Amino acid sequence: PAPGWTIEADVVVVGSGIAGLTAALRLKDHVGKVLVVTKDRLAAGSTQWAQGGIAAALGPGDTPAEHELDTLVAGAGACDADAVRALVTEGPDAVRELIALGAMFDHDPDGVLSLTREGGHHRDRIAHAGGDATGAEIQRALIAAVGRAPEIEIIKRALAVDLLLDDDGGVAGLTLHVMGEGQRDGVGAVRCRAVVLASGGLGQVFSQTTNPSVSTGDGMALALRAGATLRDLEFVQFHPTVMYLGPDSHGQQPLISEAVRGEGAFLVDFEGNRFMQGVHELADLAPRDVVAKAIMRRMIETGHDHMWLDARHLGAEFWQRRFPTILATAREHGVDPVTDLIPVAPACHYASGGVRTDLWGRSDVPGLYATGEVACSGVHGANRLASNSLLEGLVFSRRIAEVLPGELRSWSVPAADARIPGLVDPGIRDELQATMSAKVGVLRHQAGLDEAAVVLDKLAGIAADEIDLGAWEAANLLTVSTALTAAATLRQETRGSHWREDFPERDDERFAGHVDIVLRDGQP
Ligand code: SIN
Repeated sequence: PAPGWTIEADVVVVGSGIAGLTAALRLKDHVGKVLVVTKDRLAAGSTQWAQGGIAAALGPGDTPAEHELDTLVAGAGACDADAVRALVTEGPDAVRELIALGAMFDHDPDGVLSLTREGGHHRDRIAHAGGDATGAEIQRALIAAVGRAPEIEIIKRALAVDLLLDDDGGVAGLTLHVMGEGQRDGVGAVRCRAVVLASGGLGQVFSQTTNPSVSTGDGMALALRAGATLRDLEFVQFHPTVMYLGPDSHGQQPLISEAVRGEGAFLVDFEGNRFMQGVHELADLAPRDVVAKAIMRRMIETGHDHMWLDARHLGAEFWQRRFPTILATAREHGVDPVTDLIPVAPACHYASGGVRTDLWGRSDVPGLYATGEVACSGVHGANRLASNSLLEGLVFSRRIAEVLPGELRSWSVPAADARIPGLVDPGIRDELQATMSAKVGVLRHQAGLDEAAVVLDKLAGIAADEIDLGAWEAANLLTVSTALTAAATLRQETRGSHWREDFPERDDERFAGHVDIVLRDGQP
């Protein structure tokens, strides 16, 4: 639809988690007007939900080189080494800057920053806040900082729909669908000189996820439609210990942080066997893909739909002090981790792939940058190391803010837009999610991927009756599901979080590189 209103900003930041707000705060004094648009409230995205913490070599004896090695090992040969180097070397300063901004991390009684351990880390390197409410504290501190910067304009409840491109294919603006925000209600346009995508991930593609309801892959779909490349989308990370609430529980599920295992909890099967021992030298703290696969294997072998996490020995006082949020949530669901085993199963957690960027957050579309979960900077490879995601958002938003002011494009005129919106009926979501979970989830094989492609193709034909948020989100879910299925089909090997039953080995001969997806004839 034609925009009902038009405004201007030099730079538009899409998203308001750690990546988006860091970019806005760092850009605000260097690029003219900065506008942040966000689909819901400022704190509605994944940052708010992060439990475990943020990884950086901040502890005594730890070094960026050791953090680098753990990141590369978890990434299973698919990381970009230069991007990882940037992440781990700039990480400590970036975290210190966050602390200086006002984020209150946990300290021991002597005032030393508390650091814990998570899967794949060989050292205690995860800084945390409020015990298990790290993301909420970071989000609070960033929102407070943005509140002290009134020059940053914010439009909430605004879905970024599509880029407006000039005749050279560069960014000339962005269309928004704003829901119920006074004069700027409905579809409008922002003319701008650059867009920083920081819109998060795609967890809602699957039936069970740790991601909040806003994670519908909007930024990835928008970038693909604008001509950007999506890289490594098949590497969807399934978190091993998501509380299992039964087969009919859909949408966002409660995460039981890896930090609980970092503090000594362990997995057991229905017979009480500690099945991670002997699977990996780090046992219950092996990289996330290894633990998720071991749980799935044991579930398949024993015919159960979940396994158990035993954290009873941590005791009531420790649980209350260290993991108050998880304790309260588990109790709300009728499980008391102090006395009960916690039922757990893997669920979709993180998109390691996304919009392909260089070391400075640049996508293939001139003027379009991406940072945080929406991006594929190359730091995660085939499997993100625990607690590297908040860090990625911080480090790469800082990097974007370093280069963007010096390369800000001139104002340009949007070209006529020949793209067909292709909105689909929001009613397709259940079938889409069930299909993606069953056929493109933890375990994949050719026949299942082919079946998924057929279902997605059918769903694409179910047009929306109305142009509303549900229709845009359904279209975006369909676009990223189609791209993800295509990527998973192309990667005929098992690596990191991509597990092909029909190609069970890692194949460095054929697949040392990346899987890139672009639109051809309107299709991923
Ligand atoms: C967790 O707390 O287990 C999640 C941390 C992460 O995803 O990095």
